[in-house]
Amino acid sequence: MSDGSTQQQIAILGSTGSIGTSCLKVLRAHPQRFSAHVITANRRWQDLAAQCHEFRPAKAILTGIGPDEIDRSQFPSSVELLFGEEPCIEAVQDPVVDTVVTGIVGAAGLRTTWAALEAGKRVAFANKETLVVGGSLIVELLRHSGAELLPVDSEHSAVFQTLQCGRREDLQRIILTASGGPFRKATQQELEEVTVAQALAHPTWNMGAKITIDSATMMNKALEVIEARWLFDVTAAEIDVVVHPESIVHSMVEFNDGSVVAHLSPPDMCLPIQYALTWPERVAGVSPRMDFTQAFHLHFEPPDPVRFPALELGFEVARQGGTAGAVLNAANEVAVDRFLNEEIRFTDIPRLCRSILESHSFDAAPTLDDVLRLDEWSRLEATRWTSS
Ligand SMILES: NC(=O)c1ccc[n+]([C@@H]2O[C@H](COP(=O)([O-])OP(=O)(O)OC[C@H]3O[C@@H](n4cnc5c(N)ncnc54)[C@H](OP(=O)(O)O)[C@@H]3O)[C@@H](O)[C@H]2O)c1
Repeated sequence: MSDGSTQQQIAILGSTGSIGTSCLKVLRAHPQRFSAHVITANRRWQDLAAQCHEFRPAKAILTGIGPDEIDRSQFPSSVELLFGEEPCIEAVQDPVVDTVVTGIVGAAGLRTTWAALEAGKRVAFANKETLVVGGSLIVELLRHSGAELLPVDSEHSAVFQTLQCGRREDLQRIILTASGGPFRKATQQELEEVTVAQALAHPTWNMGAKITIDSATMMNKALEVIEARWLFDVTAAEIDVVVHPESIVHSMVEFNDGSVVAHLSPPDMCLPIQYALTWPERVAGVSPRMDFTQAFHLHFEPPDPVRFPALELGFEVARQGGTAGAVLNAANEVAVDRFLNEEIRFTDIPRLCRSILESHSFDAAPTLDDVLRLDEWSRLEATRWTSS
């Protein structure tokens, strides 16, 4: 791994998304240290073309459209333009690539993340759904591949950083913070009537549509509980969630003497992305800094499991392991799409997920094929689900 004296070659999966563009901001600030070797998008080829002009990667890949659907002349001729998932898999395993940033949304990121880990890369990991789906299998792969999985999710980056303040055997619990989303104070009746536009208006974070809806239902926190369970090898009982609307404390760990260590910064994803790229080094970056010259307050409150039932699903799945994560994740991806298409209500999202989760035949020790099969089954069931 680079110590900063040689330029790191980065593959950014999902460079046109919220994580991807924040990652490119980090690269823009450190041209000596980092170079974008590969960038990928699903369909937004014009955004990808613009990024190619600025960052001049060796390769650009579009996974969701073919060569007939784009204007090749808008890309620099020096960039090798490729299509489909196979070139992504080859690209993340290329010996030239040092670090892979996984900014793809959903379980669609599983195969490429898997390929990068198999090749022993450093993976700066934003695509939490992959760990929710493949948890135990990914942990096993990490054990023998020599790869590094460094969290980009701000909460998990915070836990990763605060854990360095004590011995692992002295850890009491991990406390994940949650903004509470736009409906923190909404009544149950108001939640039943939430519109797509209201759910997409997050109070503190500017993110892609899927994670924004997940934040509003608190399914995002549920997925993060499962992510933390696998990333930090803790049980569900060792994870707590607290609502913290300012999104300044990104998470905390408590040690056995009662000390709680927290990580604070203004809400901005460049910081955890940069830390995953430079770890164990820290360097000055582009992220805003805390301003203690102005008075401000930080608030903490327990989450409400009645109005936000999605959260409990995360704890249940973290306890169960096995195939539960794949089923919950796929059901949620379909439910979010259906809500965005105005086919189901906001409050149907956790109802749909619970119903599919409870009707699946659980397997405690699945193979990757089993997990992928259940992902497909869950998507089909979730597409058919209707509110009773
Ligand atoms: N945004 C955040 O602040 C944040 C924070 C923590 C964790 N995360 C996690 O990071 C991941 C990305 O989130 P995001 O908010 O950056 O999402 P986003 O803004 O929707 O961006 C998603 C990226 O993935 C690409 N993509 C979409 N579907 C794909 C598919 N089927 N195959 C391959 N590529 C695909 C998109 O390409 P197109 O542009 O062509 O659609 C885009 O580049 C998620 O797992 C999320 O939970 C995000």
